[in-house]
Amino acid sequence: MSKLFIEGCHRLNGAVAVHGAKNSALPILAAALMADGVSELQNCPGLSDVDASVAILRHLGCRVEREGHRILVDNTGLSGSDIPDDLMREMRSSIVFLGAIAAKTGAAVLSFPGGCELGPRPIDLHLAALRQLGMAIEEERGQLRCRVRGRLKGCKIPLSFPSVGATENILLAAATAEGTTTILNAAREPEIEDLAAFLNSSGARIRGAGEGTVVIEGVDRLSACCHRVIPDRIETATYMAAAAVTGGSLVIKDVEPAHVATVFPAFEEMGCQIDVWKNELLVSAPARLRRVRSVRTMPYPGFPTDCQALLMAMACVADGTSVFIENIFESRYKHAGELMRLGAKIKVEGRVAVVEGVPVLSGAPVECTDLRGGAALVLAGLAAEGETSVTALHHIDRGYEAFEEALAGAGAVIRREDGTV
Ligand code: EPZ
Repeated sequence: MSKLFIEGCHRLNGAVAVHGAKNSALPILAAALMADGVSELQNCPGLSDVDASVAILRHLGCRVEREGHRILVDNTGLSGSDIPDDLMREMRSSIVFLGAIAAKTGAAVLSFPGGCELGPRPIDLHLAALRQLGMAIEEERGQLRCRVRGRLKGCKIPLSFPSVGATENILLAAATAEGTTTILNAAREPEIEDLAAFLNSSGARIRGAGEGTVVIEGVDRLSACCHRVIPDRIETATYMAAAAVTGGSLVIKDVEPAHVATVFPAFEEMGCQIDVWKNELLVSAPARLRRVRSVRTMPYPGFPTDCQALLMAMACVADGTSVFIENIFESRYKHAGELMRLGAKIKVEGRVAVVEGVPVLSGAPVECTDLRGGAALVLAGLAAEGETSVTALHHIDRGYEAFEEALAGAGAVIRREDGTV
């Protein structure tokens, strides 16, 4: 079992560079199976979730070549329409393949993605929308058996919640449907815009992506194209938090500032200075952070739920008491228990967590509970006296490429040991 060993209380200085967005690359890889020919995706991050998506594409008969952050997807050999249970379990967000596979092949069989560390993760909005488009979906024995007779038919789809995944599945299914589809209350995340940009480059006709109402005029077919994935805004916020929690000063390169500006107010309230120019940020932190009065997670452009754990790590060592309200996921405070092992003072009551900042944390062995919670534990380790060891690193490897190398390059004392047990 691999472990990270961190010796805390070293200020970060220098520079890091972010990679392409995981949550953009995943739906775009699904979209690539719909685009006839060889699509080229640039700036794809080297993550286990991307590996899982590539494995699904290959299982379906696509030829996939990877050269660093460049991925070529040739859908010519596409012949399958099922995602095996083991691949579904490896990455629950594989549900985004449903719309693409069914629209392209006329059928799809995959197992229910099930829950994860963040809670039950229902897909009712996905299934209701796809059924409105004319997809026949049978749910039996934990499997989804989907069929499209003829072509999907465009329609108006009001979403009761701006679900990112459901919006993506609708974009994929409606791109080649007959007629026009209008999504009301669509998710507005930058990753939605990026998926629409890929689809439009392959011949789709999508307007309004990134806004609450999106209009998709179905086309007959999609053709392969070349697309560069946008920078990862959550990885950007993670390195911002690393500078903040160590009282350091960090240049973060290859970012899209506009996509991460939603967290600037919280960082500034805690005493950080953020300078922006083109695709770089300079984050300068005070010797000790101030508390953040309250952080309410909301759909984009509100405060991102994926940054809640990162800000909590900062709040653990801030001066004063911070309040978090997690409005998106039912169970997204699992990292609080592990932070308390480092000496953090946190009280969780349902969707609310109250964090009373302490002057310094104390290093201890901790275990990642999920992707962003795991990143928060590393951040807390950077601010803790003594040694912190972090296990269950597969959570972190899902969403961060060369995480410890980047932190070490900016002055952190951190190393990974690939143990045998
Ligand atoms: C995406 O998950 C991201 N994952 C998540 O990032 C992110 O936290 C989330 O959006 C919110 O921004 C990927 O893009 C791969 P949702 P997704 O559908 O699509 C409920 C990370 O750290 N809901 O917007 O699953 C759901 O239970 C991951 O990279 C339904 O009730 O998010 C949740 O409470 C973690 N029914 C809320 O909506 C549905 O059919 C938000 O879910 C679908 C969702």
